[in-house]
Amino acid sequence: MSKILVTGGLGFIGSHTVVELQNEGYDVVIIDNLSNSSRDVLQGIIGITGKEPVFEELDLRDKQGVQNFFKTHSDINGVIHFAASKAVGESVGNPLLYYENNINTLIYVLQELDKLKDANFIFSSSCTVYGQADELPITENAPVKPAESPYGNTKQIGEEIIKDSCKVIPNLNAIALRYFNPIGAHESALIGELPIGVPLNLVPFITQTAAGLREQLSVFGDDYPTSDGTCVRDYIHVVDLAKAHVIALKRLLEAKNKSNFEVFNLGTGTGSSVLEAIKSFEYVSGEKLNYKIAPRREGDVVAAYADTEKANQELGWTSELTLDDAMRSAWKWEQKIRNK
Ligand code: WQD
Repeated sequence: MSKILVTGGLGFIGSHTVVELQNEGYDVVIIDNLSNSSRDVLQGIIGITGKEPVFEELDLRDKQGVQNFFKTHSDINGVIHFAASKAVGESVGNPLLYYENNINTLIYVLQELDKLKDANFIFSSSCTVYGQADELPITENAPVKPAESPYGNTKQIGEEIIKDSCKVIPNLNAIALRYFNPIGAHESALIGELPIGVPLNLVPFITQTAAGLREQLSVFGDDYPTSDGTCVRDYIHVVDLAKAHVIALKRLLEAKNKSNFEVFNLGTGTGSSVLEAIKSFEYVSGEKLNYKIAPRREGDVVAAYADTEKANQELGWTSELTLDDAMRSAWKWEQKIRNK
Protein backbone atom coordinates (compact mmCIF):
# COMPACT_ATOMS: atom_id res chain seq x y z
CA MET A 1 0.00 0.00 0.00
CA SER A 2 1.14 3.57 -0.60
CA LYS A 3 3.44 5.17 1.95
CA ILE A 4 2.35 8.64 2.99
CA LEU A 5 4.32 11.31 4.84
CA VAL A 6 2.23 13.49 7.17
CA THR A 7 4.17 16.53 8.38
CA GLY A 8 2.72 17.95 11.59
CA GLY A 9 1.05 14.55 11.96
CA LEU A 10 0.79 14.81 15.75
CA GLY A 11 -1.11 18.10 15.53
CA PHE A 12 -4.86 18.61 15.76
CA ILE A 13 -5.89 18.05 12.12
CA GLY A 14 -2.77 16.02 11.33
CA SER A 15 -3.46 13.33 13.94
CA HIS A 16 -7.07 12.95 12.84
CA THR A 17 -5.86 12.60 9.23
CA VAL A 18 -3.32 9.93 10.22
CA VAL A 19 -6.18 7.91 11.74
CA GLU A 20 -8.23 8.15 8.55
CA LEU A 21 -5.20 7.26 6.39
CA GLN A 22 -4.56 4.17 8.50
CA ASN A 23 -8.25 3.27 8.36
CA GLU A 24 -7.87 3.25 4.55
CA GLY A 25 -4.82 0.97 4.76
CA TYR A 26 -2.07 3.50 4.03
CA ASP A 27 1.36 3.19 5.64
CA VAL A 28 2.02 6.47 7.45
CA VAL A 29 5.24 8.23 8.38
CA ILE A 30 4.86 11.25 10.69
CA ILE A 31 7.28 14.12 11.03
CA ASP A 32 6.59 16.47 13.92
CA ASN A 33 8.84 18.79 15.98
CA LEU A 34 6.48 18.52 18.98
CA SER A 35 6.36 22.34 19.27
CA ASN A 36 2.58 22.23 19.49
CA SER A 37 1.94 18.58 20.34
CA SER A 38 3.23 15.62 22.34
CA ARG A 39 4.12 11.95 21.93
CA ASP A 40 0.90 11.12 23.83
CA VAL A 41 -0.93 11.89 20.60
CA LEU A 42 0.92 8.97 18.99
CA GLN A 43 -0.49 6.69 21.69
CA GLY A 44 -3.93 8.09 21.00
CA ILE A 45 -3.63 7.25 17.30
CA ILE A 46 -2.46 3.72 18.09
CA GLY A 47 -5.30 3.37 20.60
CA ILE A 48 -7.81 4.13 17.84
CA THR A 49 -6.38 2.18 14.91
CA GLY A 50 -4.17 -0.41 16.59
CA LYS A 51 -1.47 0.51 14.06
CA GLU A 52 1.77 2.33 14.91
CA PRO A 53 2.80 4.94 12.34
CA VAL A 54 6.52 5.58 11.91
CA PHE A 55 7.33 8.76 13.85
CA GLU A 56 10.40 10.92 13.34
CA GLU A 57 10.90 13.96 15.56
CA LEU A 58 12.29 16.55 13.15
CA ASP A 59 12.04 20.30 12.74
CA LEU A 60 11.51 21.01 9.05
CA ARG A 61 13.56 24.19 9.41
CA ASP A 62 16.56 21.81 9.53
CA LYS A 63 17.19 21.66 5.78
CA GLN A 64 19.88 18.97 6.10
CA GLY A 65 17.51 16.97 8.31
CA VAL A 66 14.81 17.16 5.67
CA GLN A 67 17.25 16.01 2.98
CA ASN A 68 18.41 13.09 5.13
CA PHE A 69 14.80 12.12 5.83
CA PHE A 70 13.94 11.90 2.14
CA LYS A 71 17.11 9.92 1.44
CA THR A 72 15.90 7.33 3.95
CA HIS A 73 12.29 7.45 2.79
CA SER A 74 12.72 7.71 -0.99
CA ASP A 75 9.70 5.39 -1.45
CA ILE A 76 7.13 7.94 -0.28
CA ASN A 77 4.12 8.15 -2.62
CA GLY A 78 2.48 11.23 -1.19
CA VAL A 79 2.86 14.05 1.34
CA ILE A 80 0.19 15.77 3.40
CA HIS A 81 1.79 18.93 4.73
CA PHE A 82 0.31 20.31 7.96
CA ALA A 83 3.49 21.42 9.74
CA ALA A 84 3.19 25.17 10.32
CA SER A 85 2.53 27.73 13.01
CA LYS A 86 -1.14 28.74 12.97
CA ALA A 87 -1.95 31.35 15.63
CA VAL A 88 -3.18 34.45 13.83
CA GLY A 89 -2.54 36.81 16.74
CA GLU A 90 0.94 35.40 17.45
CA SER A 91 1.90 35.87 13.80
CA VAL A 92 1.21 39.62 14.02
CA GLY A 93 3.70 39.95 16.88
CA ASN A 94 6.28 37.55 15.44
CA PRO A 95 6.11 37.66 11.63
CA LEU A 96 9.63 36.35 10.98
CA LEU A 97 8.92 33.21 13.03
CA TYR A 98 5.90 32.60 10.81
CA TYR A 99 7.69 33.31 7.51
CA GLU A 100 10.58 31.06 8.52
CA ASN A 101 8.48 28.25 9.95
CA ASN A 102 5.70 28.24 7.36
CA ILE A 103 7.55 29.16 4.17
CA ASN A 104 11.14 27.87 4.46
CA THR A 105 9.90 24.46 5.57
CA LEU A 106 7.48 24.25 2.63
CA ILE A 107 10.34 25.05 0.25
CA TYR A 108 12.65 22.40 1.78
CA VAL A 109 9.94 19.72 1.41
CA LEU A 110 9.11 20.72 -2.17
CA GLN A 111 12.81 20.65 -3.10
CA GLU A 112 12.90 16.99 -1.99
CA LEU A 113 9.71 16.10 -3.85
CA ASP A 114 11.49 17.10 -7.03
CA LYS A 115 13.65 13.97 -6.56
CA LEU A 116 10.77 11.53 -5.94
CA LYS A 117 9.16 9.37 -8.62
CA ASP A 118 5.70 10.06 -7.17
CA ALA A 119 5.20 13.60 -5.93
CA ASN A 120 1.61 13.94 -4.74
CA PHE A 121 1.25 16.87 -2.37
CA ILE A 122 -1.68 17.98 -0.23
CA PHE A 123 -1.31 21.44 1.29
CA SER A 124 -3.07 22.62 4.43
CA SER A 125 -4.48 26.01 3.48
CA SER A 126 -7.18 28.17 5.00
CA CYS A 127 -10.29 30.22 4.25
CA THR A 128 -8.26 33.03 5.77
CA VAL A 129 -6.96 33.67 2.24
CA TYR A 130 -10.37 35.12 1.32
CA GLY A 131 -10.44 37.72 4.10
CA GLN A 132 -13.97 39.19 4.17
CA ALA A 133 -15.35 37.75 0.94
CA ASP A 134 -17.64 40.04 -1.07
CA GLU A 135 -20.08 37.21 -1.74
CA LEU A 136 -21.36 34.38 0.48
CA PRO A 137 -21.15 31.42 0.36
CA ILE A 138 -17.50 31.58 -0.65
CA THR A 139 -16.41 29.71 -3.80
CA GLU A 140 -12.83 28.82 -4.78
CA ASN A 141 -13.04 31.58 -7.41
CA ALA A 142 -13.55 34.25 -4.77
CA PRO A 143 -10.65 36.71 -4.95
CA VAL A 144 -7.77 36.15 -2.56
CA LYS A 145 -7.67 39.34 -0.50
CA PRO A 146 -4.60 41.04 1.01
CA ALA A 147 -3.81 38.98 4.09
CA GLU A 148 -4.86 40.44 7.43
CA SER A 149 -2.05 38.64 9.27
CA PRO A 150 1.37 37.16 8.54
CA TYR A 151 -0.21 33.75 9.23
CA GLY A 152 -2.78 34.29 6.50
CA ASN A 153 -0.05 35.64 4.22
CA THR A 154 2.00 32.46 4.64
CA LYS A 155 -0.98 30.44 3.38
CA GLN A 156 -1.38 32.70 0.35
CA ILE A 157 2.35 32.67 -0.40
CA GLY A 158 2.46 28.90 0.19
CA GLU A 159 -0.23 28.31 -2.43
CA GLU A 160 1.66 30.49 -4.93
CA ILE A 161 4.95 28.65 -4.29
CA ILE A 162 3.24 25.30 -4.87
CA LYS A 163 1.44 26.50 -8.00
CA ASP A 164 4.69 27.81 -9.51
CA SER A 165 6.55 24.61 -8.55
CA CYS A 166 3.89 22.40 -10.17
CA LYS A 167 4.56 24.23 -13.45
CA VAL A 168 8.21 23.14 -13.56
CA ILE A 169 8.48 19.96 -11.46
CA PRO A 170 7.18 17.41 -13.96
CA ASN A 171 5.94 14.77 -11.55
CA LEU A 172 4.53 17.16 -8.91
CA ASN A 173 0.75 17.25 -8.55
CA ALA A 174 -0.78 19.23 -5.69
CA ILE A 175 -4.08 20.08 -4.04
CA ALA A 176 -4.55 22.99 -1.62
CA LEU A 177 -7.36 22.45 0.87
CA ARG A 178 -8.82 25.68 2.26
CA TYR A 179 -10.32 24.82 5.65
CA PHE A 180 -13.03 26.85 7.22
CA ASN A 181 -13.21 26.44 11.02
CA PRO A 182 -12.09 22.98 12.17
CA ILE A 183 -13.60 21.94 15.53
CA GLY A 184 -14.41 18.83 17.55
CA ALA A 185 -12.48 15.63 18.24
CA HIS A 186 -12.45 11.93 17.41
CA GLU A 187 -15.45 10.15 18.99
CA SER A 188 -13.06 7.96 21.02
CA ALA A 189 -11.77 11.06 22.89
CA LEU A 190 -8.28 9.55 22.42
CA ILE A 191 -7.17 12.48 20.23
CA GLY A 192 -8.39 16.07 20.01
CA GLU A 193 -7.32 19.69 20.06
CA LEU A 194 -4.49 20.37 22.53
CA PRO A 195 -4.41 24.16 22.80
CA ILE A 196 -1.28 25.09 24.70
CA GLY A 197 -1.87 28.18 26.86
CA VAL A 198 -4.95 30.37 26.65
CA PRO A 199 -6.99 29.19 23.65
CA LEU A 200 -7.45 31.78 20.90
CA ASN A 201 -10.17 29.85 19.07
CA LEU A 202 -13.81 29.81 20.12
CA VAL A 203 -14.54 26.14 20.75
CA PRO A 204 -11.60 25.28 23.02
CA PHE A 205 -12.37 28.45 24.97
CA ILE A 206 -15.98 27.32 25.34
CA THR A 207 -15.05 23.84 26.56
CA GLN A 208 -12.35 25.16 28.92
CA THR A 209 -14.83 27.66 30.39
CA ALA A 210 -17.36 24.88 30.94
CA ALA A 211 -14.59 22.75 32.50
CA GLY A 212 -13.80 25.56 34.93
CA LEU A 213 -10.35 26.36 33.52
CA ARG A 214 -11.51 29.76 32.26
CA GLU A 215 -13.66 32.12 34.25
CA GLN A 216 -15.89 33.35 31.45
CA LEU A 217 -16.07 33.39 27.66
CA SER A 218 -15.94 36.81 26.02
CA VAL A 219 -18.08 37.02 22.90
CA PHE A 220 -16.17 39.44 20.70
CA GLY A 221 -18.92 41.77 19.56
CA ASP A 222 -22.67 41.50 19.09
CA ASP A 223 -23.13 44.53 16.84
CA TYR A 224 -22.23 42.93 13.51
CA PRO A 225 -24.72 42.94 10.59
CA THR A 226 -25.73 39.30 11.19
CA SER A 227 -28.88 37.54 12.42
CA ASP A 228 -27.98 37.99 16.09
CA GLY A 229 -25.14 40.50 15.84
CA THR A 230 -22.33 37.98 16.37
CA CYS A 231 -19.87 36.78 13.72
CA VAL A 232 -20.75 33.85 11.48
CA ARG A 233 -18.36 30.98 10.70
CA ASP A 234 -18.48 27.58 9.00
CA TYR A 235 -17.61 25.13 11.77
CA ILE A 236 -16.51 21.82 10.26
CA HIS A 237 -15.93 18.63 12.27
CA VAL A 238 -12.24 17.72 12.23
CA VAL A 239 -13.07 14.09 11.31
CA ASP A 240 -14.96 15.22 8.19
CA LEU A 241 -11.97 17.40 7.37
CA ALA A 242 -9.55 14.49 7.86
CA LYS A 243 -11.57 12.26 5.55
CA ALA A 244 -11.44 14.95 2.86
CA HIS A 245 -7.63 14.82 2.98
CA VAL A 246 -7.61 11.09 2.27
CA ILE A 247 -10.04 11.56 -0.63
CA ALA A 248 -7.93 14.38 -2.07
CA LEU A 249 -4.76 12.29 -1.77
CA LYS A 250 -6.46 9.35 -3.48
CA ARG A 251 -7.46 11.70 -6.32
CA LEU A 252 -3.77 12.40 -6.94
CA LEU A 253 -2.57 8.83 -6.42
CA GLU A 254 -5.12 7.66 -8.98
CA ALA A 255 -4.25 10.57 -11.31
CA LYS A 256 -7.87 11.76 -11.34
CA ASN A 257 -6.88 15.40 -10.83
CA LYS A 258 -7.79 17.73 -13.70
CA SER A 259 -4.76 19.95 -13.40
CA ASN A 260 -1.47 19.74 -11.55
CA PHE A 261 -2.61 22.32 -8.99
CA GLU A 262 -6.17 22.28 -7.64
CA VAL A 263 -7.89 24.15 -4.79
CA PHE A 264 -10.90 23.03 -2.74
CA ASN A 265 -12.86 24.73 0.03
CA LEU A 266 -13.62 22.40 2.93
CA GLY A 267 -16.60 23.48 4.99
CA THR A 268 -20.14 22.39 5.79
CA GLY A 269 -21.68 25.14 3.67
CA THR A 270 -23.63 26.33 6.72
CA GLY A 271 -22.79 29.46 8.69
CA SER A 272 -23.31 29.53 12.47
CA SER A 273 -23.07 32.60 14.68
CA VAL A 274 -21.08 32.65 17.90
CA LEU A 275 -24.31 32.65 19.92
CA GLU A 276 -25.61 29.70 17.89
CA ALA A 277 -22.36 27.85 18.62
CA ILE A 278 -22.79 28.55 22.32
CA LYS A 279 -26.40 27.34 22.18
CA SER A 280 -25.26 24.15 20.47
CA PHE A 281 -22.70 23.55 23.19
CA GLU A 282 -25.22 24.16 25.97
CA TYR A 283 -27.67 21.79 24.29
CA VAL A 284 -25.24 18.87 23.89
CA SER A 285 -23.45 19.33 27.23
CA GLY A 286 -26.38 20.30 29.44
CA GLU A 287 -24.05 22.98 30.83
CA LYS A 288 -25.01 26.65 31.10
CA LEU A 289 -22.06 28.56 29.65
CA ASN A 290 -20.78 31.62 31.49
CA TYR A 291 -20.20 34.30 28.85
CA LYS A 292 -20.41 38.04 28.36
CA ILE A 293 -20.54 40.32 25.34
CA ALA A 294 -17.17 42.04 24.87
CA PRO A 295 -15.78 44.50 22.30
CA ARG A 296 -15.05 43.32 18.77
CA ARG A 297 -11.72 41.53 18.09
CA GLU A 298 -9.38 43.24 15.64
CA GLY A 299 -9.20 41.46 12.29
CA ASP A 300 -12.37 39.39 12.61
CA VAL A 301 -14.40 39.06 9.42
CA VAL A 302 -18.17 39.42 9.81
CA ALA A 303 -19.09 36.17 8.09
CA ALA A 304 -17.42 33.30 6.25
CA TYR A 305 -18.94 30.05 5.11
CA ALA A 306 -18.11 27.76 2.20
CA ASP A 307 -19.72 27.03 -1.11
CA THR A 308 -19.10 23.27 -1.04
CA GLU A 309 -20.21 22.55 -4.62
CA LYS A 310 -16.73 21.94 -6.03
CA ALA A 311 -15.64 19.57 -3.24
CA ASN A 312 -18.99 17.77 -3.44
CA GLN A 313 -18.86 17.34 -7.22
CA GLU A 314 -15.14 16.91 -7.90
CA LEU A 315 -13.99 15.13 -4.75
CA GLY A 316 -17.26 13.35 -4.11
CA TRP A 317 -16.89 14.55 -0.51
CA THR A 318 -19.39 16.24 1.74
CA SER A 319 -19.36 16.90 5.46
CA GLU A 320 -21.55 14.46 7.40
CA LEU A 321 -21.22 15.54 11.03
CA THR A 322 -23.20 18.43 12.50
CA LEU A 323 -22.30 21.35 14.76
CA ASP A 324 -23.94 19.45 17.65
CA ASP A 325 -21.80 16.38 16.84
CA ALA A 326 -18.68 18.52 16.88
CA MET A 327 -19.57 20.26 20.13
CA ARG A 328 -20.45 16.92 21.76
CA SER A 329 -17.08 15.44 20.77
CA ALA A 330 -15.19 18.59 21.84
CA TRP A 331 -16.84 18.45 25.27
CA LYS A 332 -16.14 14.69 25.65
CA TRP A 333 -12.49 15.37 24.78
CA GLU A 334 -12.24 18.29 27.24
CA GLN A 335 -13.66 16.15 30.03
CA LYS A 336 -11.30 13.32 29.14
CA ILE A 337 -8.16 15.49 29.28
CA ARG A 338 -9.36 17.07 32.52
CA ASN A 339 -10.06 13.53 33.82
CA LYS A 340 -13.56 14.64 34.73
C1 WQD B 1 -14.38 32.24 15.62
C2 WQD B 1 -15.41 33.27 16.08
C3 WQD B 1 -14.44 35.23 17.06
C4 WQD B 1 -12.81 33.33 20.60
C5 WQD B 1 -9.16 31.27 12.98
C6 WQD B 1 -8.09 31.53 11.98
C7 WQD B 1 -8.31 30.66 10.77
C8 WQD B 1 -8.43 29.22 11.20
C9 WQD B 1 -9.51 29.04 12.25
C10 WQD B 1 -6.27 28.25 10.90
C11 WQD B 1 -14.97 34.69 15.75
C12 WQD B 1 -15.28 34.46 18.08
C13 WQD B 1 -13.43 33.54 19.39
C14 WQD B 1 -13.35 33.89 21.80
C15 WQD B 1 -15.14 34.82 20.49
N1 WQD B 1 -7.20 28.75 11.71
N2 WQD B 1 -14.58 34.26 19.36
N3 WQD B 1 -14.50 34.61 21.69
O1 WQD B 1 -10.84 33.67 13.82
O2 WQD B 1 -12.71 32.46 12.54
O3 WQD B 1 -10.39 31.62 12.42
O4 WQD B 1 -9.19 29.91 13.33
O5 WQD B 1 -6.32 28.07 9.73
O6 WQD B 1 -7.19 30.84 9.94
O7 WQD B 1 -8.20 32.87 11.57
O8 WQD B 1 -11.65 31.35 14.51
O9 WQD B 1 -12.27 30.38 16.67
O10 WQD B 1 -10.71 32.38 16.66
O11 WQD B 1 -13.11 32.67 16.10
O12 WQD B 1 -16.19 35.50 20.43
O13 WQD B 1 -12.82 33.74 22.94
O14 WQD B 1 -15.52 33.21 17.50
O15 WQD B 1 -14.67 36.63 17.20
O16 WQD B 1 -16.13 35.43 15.41
P1 WQD B 1 -11.44 32.41 13.31
P2 WQD B 1 -11.87 31.67 16.06
